[in-house]
Amino acid sequence: MRGTIFLPGDKSIAHRAIILSALAGSKTVLKNIPFNEDSLATINAIRKLGIKIKLNKASCQAVVFGKKLFGLIKPGNPVFYIKESGTTFRLLLGILAGQDFKTKLHAGPILSRRPMLRVIKPLRLMGARISARRGRAQGAKREEYPPIIVEGGNLKGITYKIPVASAQVKGALLLAGLFARGQTKIIEPVKTRDHTERMLKLFKAKIKTKGNAITIAGGKCLVSPCRLYIPSDISSAAFFMVAASIVPDSEILIKNVSLNPGRLGLIKALKRMGGALKIEKSKLSSRNNEPMGDILVFSRRLRGIRIRKSDTPSLIDELPILMVAASLAKGVSVFENVGELRVKETDRVKSMLVNLTKMSANIKVVKSGAQENIIIKGVRELCGSRLSSFGDHRTAMSMTIAGLASRGKTSIDDLSCINKSFPNFLEVLNSLT
Ligand code: S3P
Repeated sequence: MRGTIFLPGDKSIAHRAIILSALAGSKTVLKNIPFNEDSLATINAIRKLGIKIKLNKASCQAVVFGKKLFGLIKPGNPVFYIKESGTTFRLLLGILAGQDFKTKLHAGPILSRRPMLRVIKPLRLMGARISARRGRAQGAKREEYPPIIVEGGNLKGITYKIPVASAQVKGALLLAGLFARGQTKIIEPVKTRDHTERMLKLFKAKIKTKGNAITIAGGKCLVSPCRLYIPSDISSAAFFMVAASIVPDSEILIKNVSLNPGRLGLIKALKRMGGALKIEKSKLSSRNNEPMGDILVFSRRLRGIRIRKSDTPSLIDELPILMVAASLAKGVSVFENVGELRVKETDRVKSMLVNLTKMSANIKVVKSGAQENIIIKGVRELCGSRLSSFGDHRTAMSMTIAGLASRGKTSIDDLSCINKSFPNFLEVLNSLT
């Protein structure tokens, strides 16, 4: 694999940029906006709340004509259909909790099975009235799922310790905090990606971070930075970082990648595995208040690694592709506490176990008390096979890279799910091979 690539804008940053632009009292031009299904889900939801957004797909640009903080309006039909975008759904819950009108949120079949109590519970404490479909999660814990009815408004600030490490939950609560009386203080168990905090600072919100605690003042008007550049998505770059590491004789350069400190887990892991990755031209960009830079990757024989529980949030979306790398690494790799992977777009513990086993990898799931670990013993070679994406974009892209690095032919049943985050994935991949 050889060449230089430019990737679509970061999905996590895009959601936040669209939402905050809508709440700032003037126009914001968003550059390098990713035209994928998840970003479009956020765009459509925000449009439904009375915000005009002009899109230009050819130039990857969106212009958001923001209204003031309390300027969102009740849609004629207050029923939202969010499809499969978990980040849209959870962040929007935070926004809707702050509006004094009633809305209902529906999701697609997969997202309708993903847990929402983690966001609903603190929003209720802030004063929102929320009802959701009730059910039981694995382990028979009480859980709540879409569809969800939100009657918001008149929120009060709270101090809340988030029990699960989740940037979506943190983001939703900080957004709700914008509409609340007084201060909202959120404490994370482990630091997660801080896109919401950075973006709020860029839009001049009154927000402070100290250790794992973030405090935001409610009622403060946001100020648009006028133009905002969205760096390339490190979670999309991940597939190429691993591909270039495991396909012999590779050398690739990935340009303008977001290097948020909360998402550097894969780069750190590959380096610990003996991978050859170099970050170039790294700087904090004033155009988005995020660090970004270029990543140069060469192929290397990798060795096994232990991913600890505390490492997981910094590579949560990259675990499937890292499992592919571990399958071909020398020695044993251990992925501790992978339970959160069971509630992603698909059960990624299962999807990776089934697919990698079919390719003759040596992978098993081991229970250790309440915790689940994955253990992979590297093999010299993976064998091409007939695989399934399980309808999950990151499983699909991970298995495509595994197929590329294996002996024989690999086929994957359905790649349309890739449109969720990275519609031109195959085009970029083919440009390198
Ligand atoms: C995201 C946070 C993570 C990640 C998801 C995007 C975000 O989810 O898996 O793809 O943009 O905040 P969790 O907050 O559920 O860990």
